[in-house]
Amino acid sequence: MKIAILGTGMVGNALGTKLVQLGHDVIMGSRTAGSEAGRDWLKSVGGKARIGAFDEAATFGKIVLDCTNGANSLAALRQAGEANLRGKILIQISNPLDTSKGMPPTLTVCNTDSLGEQIQREFPETRVVKALNTINCAVMVEPSLLSGDHDLIICGDDAAAKTQVTALLGEWFGWKKENIIDLGNISASRGTEMYLALWIRLWGVLGTPHFNIKIVR
Ligand SMILES: NC(=O)c1ccc[n+]([C@@H]2O[C@H](COP(=O)([O-])OP(=O)(O)OC[C@H]3O[C@@H](n4cnc5c(N)ncnc54)[C@H](OP(=O)(O)O)[C@@H]3O)[C@@H](O)[C@H]2O)c1
Repeated sequence: MKIAILGTGMVGNALGTKLVQLGHDVIMGSRTAGSEAGRDWLKSVGGKARIGAFDEAATFGKIVLDCTNGANSLAALRQAGEANLRGKILIQISNPLDTSKGMPPTLTVCNTDSLGEQIQREFPETRVVKALNTINCAVMVEPSLLSGDHDLIICGDDAAAKTQVTALLGEWFGWKKENIIDLGNISASRGTEMYLALWIRLWGVLGTPHFNIKIVR
């Protein structure tokens, strides 16, 4: 599958590397076509992928993973281009963290709005599915890293897109369908993004980013 990873940080690296290992045709996008971070990643996967600017990546990918810096995701997606994202599923992973005042970060948008919603509003013809933003990137690509069952929350306005993403997360990374909770429309992004305040404190107390939640009924 032709997959675009927008973002050259640790999330883009983890997802991109795993998808290349699975044999997919992956492009990693950046603000500039030949960014150093992009070149480093390309080298790390033995050249078995492509790199390019955000718009080249979005054009190439049949499905697009948004791993851009959350405070700047809208700018990155504007560069990716509305027309290049039209009709495509965008797995929207980034969180709108504001680290400008140090740790712990706050959110650039919350309570009555969210990054997921801002993106869906600005790109109405893109099928935005908020997913994977509640866990560390090592857990995203290998849920079996944690012992026992644990859950992933997704949301979005397009039911068919969510069904497809659920299947892909199983196929790519081994997420079990019964562990993926569909929280409804894209406004549920508010909750999954605000969960970051709790996630960061848990990280500090547990001393590892490799954990997740299980919803017990
Ligand atoms: N770390 C985790 O395990 C984890 C887990 C869940 C969610 N997240 C979220 O995932 C997102 C990505 O995190 P990360 O640590 O991998 O990467 P990051 O450092 O937050 O973001 C890197 C990407 O953002 C782009 N970017 C930065 N400033 C920009 C601007 N002004 N305009 C346009 N693009 C800009 C960079 O472009 P260039 O390539 O051009 O530099 C780069 O591709 C974050 O929102 C984070 O909160 C992280």
